[in-house]
Amino acid sequence: MQFNVLTALGLRENHYMLDIGCGSLRAGKLLIPYLLPQRYHGVEPQEWLVRQGIEKEIGKDLVALKSPRFAHNFEFDLSSFGRKFDFLVAQSILSHTDVDMTMKCLRSAREVMHERSVFAATYVEGDTNYDGDEAWVYPGCVTYQWDYFKGMVADAGLKAIKMQWDHPGWQTWVASVDPSNDSTSVMLDPANASRLLQHPYVSFGMKVRSWLKGLLSQSYAVVAPPAATVRRVPELRTLAAGAA
Ligand SMILES: C[S@@+](CC[C@H](N)C(=O)[O-])C[C@H]1O[C@@H](n2cnc3c(N)ncnc32)[C@H](O)[C@@H]1O
Repeated sequence: MQFNVLTALGLRENHYMLDIGCGSLRAGKLLIPYLLPQRYHGVEPQEWLVRQGIEKEIGKDLVALKSPRFAHNFEFDLSSFGRKFDFLVAQSILSHTDVDMTMKCLRSAREVMHERSVFAATYVEGDTNYDGDEAWVYPGCVTYQWDYFKGMVADAGLKAIKMQWDHPGWQTWVASVDPSNDSTSVMLDPANASRLLQHPYVSFGMKVRSWLKGLLSQSYAVVAPPAATVRRVPELRTLAAGAA
């Protein structure tokens, strides 16, 4: 699911990616082989989870080949990598955090985003806004109303766009972007939408299929860093040069 969401949003091998609360590499086991070396970054307070992920999921050879980078802290300190990221993901993290911790995560993410970055995160939408005593609620989940969640994202200096993407845990996917980003809906390159619909090995539920079909007949706002597409299609540059 995370791989599909991120690649549908435009993640390509040359992008820099940050996985917040990467755990035992549920997303990393697909993202690390897909991305070029030194592009995957994971933050995870429980170092042993990453160790087990490497040992039991991806293996040391892949680590040697792709050099993923990891940091371990509880503070959502995302600065230790010393760079900005094109794509960020926080899957099943903000479904466990109180308001202060959610704000800390969103503000830290903002600090390491540029104006075309996309931060894909999940939260649990509900009728109430969590105001309990625990900062990290686990194994349970916390809920927030959409307007409230959107407000927290805005307070962190970002714009929240709710995505129509099924989640097996009934969580809601939100893409947060720079407010100057003029996208108002989720943003699929039409080529990606038709490729996904025709994919031989991936099947989608009726809801997602009709959403993808709807996208095919709309005009698009692609949030992904535009340079990536051009860099990946050198023959387009040649054609453009020829035409000029
Ligand atoms: C429900 S798991 C999700 C893991 C992973 N994102 C996935 O999709 O499998 C929540 C993860 O958040 C991590 N976590 C807890 N507190 C955190 C914090 N302050 N900063 C970053 N991650 C945290 C936990 O250790 C755990 O790995």
